[in-house]
Amino acid sequence: MPNVRIELSKDGSHTLYSESQGSYYHNPNGAVEESIHVYFEQSGIIGALRGNKPVSVMEIGFGTGLNLLLLANLALKLESSSAVTFTSVEAYPIGFDQAQQLNYRDFLEHPELFDQMLPVFSGLNSGGEAITLQKIGPVQAVIHKCLFDDFEPGAHHPAPFTHILHDPFDPVVSPELWTPEVFARLKSLSSDEAVMVTYGASSRARAAMAVGGWFIARAPGALGKREMTVASMAETSLDGLKRLNEHRLRERWRAGDF
Ligand SMILES: C[S@@+](CC[C@H](N)C(=O)[O-])C[C@H]1O[C@@H](n2cnc3c(N)ncnc32)[C@H](O)[C@@H]1O
Repeated sequence: MPNVRIELSKDGSHTLYSESQGSYYHNPNGAVEESIHVYFEQSGIIGALRGNKPVSVMEIGFGTGLNLLLLANLALKLESSSAVTFTSVEAYPIGFDQAQQLNYRDFLEHPELFDQMLPVFSGLNSGGEAITLQKIGPVQAVIHKCLFDDFEPGAHHPAPFTHILHDPFDPVVSPELWTPEVFARLKSLSSDEAVMVTYGASSRARAAMAVGGWFIARAPGALGKREMTVASMAETSLDGLKRLNEHRLRERWRAGDF
């Protein structure tokens, strides 16, 4: 189990600080606020739920489960009839005792979702099954306890995914999750019009995405962060955003600029 302590972020929602990684799980300026902006507004998930389109989410880094809770809460709040699935990968799950202390009930219009999610943490810590299935409100969730390198979607939620929530620790702490190979793998698991979002906005991360085969755009970051990144294989999915020059980014990567 990771060595984490619970902290309040500035919007009053909890986040975790990992002592071993020296890193927060969310933006300390507002865990819930940042997650909503980066992973739900900028990804187009809110629009897809409003339009009752199928939403098949893949997340890297389950952590506290906040993104799953927010997804289920939004689907209920928007009275969406979308079929919604959520697949996530977590190599080092937090314990049930830590999870149940998180104050996310207070940030949901449907607080019962938090109680529906807690058994996921028992499943992840049972030492047995590597895959935990749980229905959270209208969302069918499948959490894989493994390194992303070992992740196989399998029969539970066959790819392709429509939305990729890339939410690992930052590239200094988890460099292995910001490589062209990881982004190429995510591309291979995604539908043609899928959108991938991440809080990361470094040129190096964006170049790795470009080498991995994605079109890339910048979007305004959350809570005082200047930028975040939105990517897709369909240029039309990035309409209205400021596009980056993927060709140039690939050249710079190959020239060893980063
Ligand atoms: C920034 S936190 C995720 C935050 C999470 N989405 C949330 O809302 O709480 C990154 C997570 O990635 C997990 N992780 C680190 N390396 C990993 C790897 N190689 N494969 C899968 N998960 C990994 C960490 O244990 C941590 O829970």
